[in-house]
Amino acid sequence: MASKKLAILLSIVGAIDLANAALTKRVACPDGVNTATNAACCPLFAVRDDIQQELFDGGECGEDVHESLRLVFHDSIAISNVAGNLGGADGSIVEFNTIEPFYHANLGTDEIVEKQKPLAAAHNMTPGDFLQFAAAVGVSNCPGAPQIPFFLGRPPPLAAAPDGLVPEPFDNVTDILARFADAGPVGFTAVEVVWALASHTIAAADLVDPTIPGTPFDSTPSLFDTQFFVETQLIGTLFPGTAGNQGEDESPLAGEMRLQSDHDLARDNRTACEWQSFVNNQPKLMARFSQVMLKLSLLGQNQSTLTDCSEVIPTPVALNVQATFPAGLGLADVEQACSSTPFPSLSTAPGPATSVPPVPPS
Ligand code: HEM
Ligand SMILES: *[C@@H]1O[C@H](CO)[C@@H](O)[C@H](O)[C@H]1NC(C)=O
Ligand SMILES: *[C@@H]1O[C@H](CO)[C@@H](O)[C@H](O)[C@H]1NC(C)=O
Ligand SMILES: *[C@@H]1O[C@H](CO)[C@@H](O)[C@H](O)[C@H]1NC(C)=O
Repeated sequence: MASKKLAILLSIVGAIDLANAALTKRVACPDGVNTATNAACCPLFAVRDDIQQELFDGGECGEDVHESLRLVFHDSIAISNVAGNLGGADGSIVEFNTIEPFYHANLGTDEIVEKQKPLAAAHNMTPGDFLQFAAAVGVSNCPGAPQIPFFLGRPPPLAAAPDGLVPEPFDNVTDILARFADAGPVGFTAVEVVWALASHTIAAADLVDPTIPGTPFDSTPSLFDTQFFVETQLIGTLFPGTAGNQGEDESPLAGEMRLQSDHDLARDNRTACEWQSFVNNQPKLMARFSQVMLKLSLLGQNQSTLTDCSEVIPTPVALNVQATFPAGLGLADVEQACSSTPFPSLSTAPGPATSVPPVPPS
């Protein structure tokens, strides 16, 4: 009883402390509308609104958001511990826009680079800050997404990243894990690689098979849900119209693209159990993706010199759905790879099997 009273008292004191902090620390921004815990974040409210209008068609989770998220990866991962940890999340892919976007692994990023570069300049932001901010704002348009933290203050990039640091869909799991492990002084573990690949729940490919542009990696490319982790685990079929290009795997659904790398990561004993653990686990998906995106966004940067402006990132719409097997498919179609835990039990979506529509070009 006494301890319960104490706990209540402590929680009241805690609440008052929080309220005081909120009252004393927030500053009114010059725009007369917003308040911020740090005045340095104030200009970002207008940038955010401009990005939503100019880049994301008023707040969609469409191709420009997907491309902006991919851009964060291709800029940030380009750092190597064996080569001195230069570069990383510095915006070099935007600054050196005649070089980096044309590396093989980066093909297709030039489109979003050309859209972002003038916007970054117009808002007087470094390209490193701008591309991270744009992706965090953009992902918030996708129902089910976590709020991705945003830190402000990256200096201008010094040089283009060297070629060869971005994984390709035809790389094997050993090479992919080694590349991630070499990114920065700490690197990424195998489970963190899986967390980062949650990004492919809001993704499509234009160039893996150029005859079918906009082909999504799961059946719900505008929702930040766990369907990607279900569908990558299913038996694939070679549907008519797919070219079977390098890096392109057979897929379980017509109109869907499965990367060879995603197929392999879902089945490799170093990553399969973590992969499966996301199936129908929306809270874990959100928590881990947010965590790994923060880590990516700080590669090559010193966090203690940056300002936390995460409060400017909108809170995404929550998603309350259960993962399902696609219509016509079920547990018998799962290629079980995790040996320690059975595949979660899911219901099957009703109706006849349907084809997944492409993501419309922006
Ligand atoms: C093993 C690591 C990875 C490989 C091999 C890989 C490969 C690819 C490929 C080949 C595409 C299709 C590009 C095209 O043809 O248009 C793609 C798209 C995409 N990737 Fe990855 N990726 C990896 C990891 C990541 C990570 C860590 C992120 C973000 C954190 C990411 C975000 C995206 C997004 C959002 C798209 C969709 C772009 C769009 O729809 O326009 N990828 N990825
Ligand atoms: C992975 O690919 C590399 C070539 O890129 C090759 O040297 C290596 O043997 C492959 N590893 C496995 C386990 O297949
Ligand atoms: C994974 O499988 C390989 C063979 O395919 C085996 O050599 C290795 O010990 C296994 N690792 C784990 C962690 O189970
Ligand atoms: C990061 O910045 C802080 C504050 O300026 C500084 O004290 C610290 O040494 C820096 N760390 C590294 C690794 O450069």
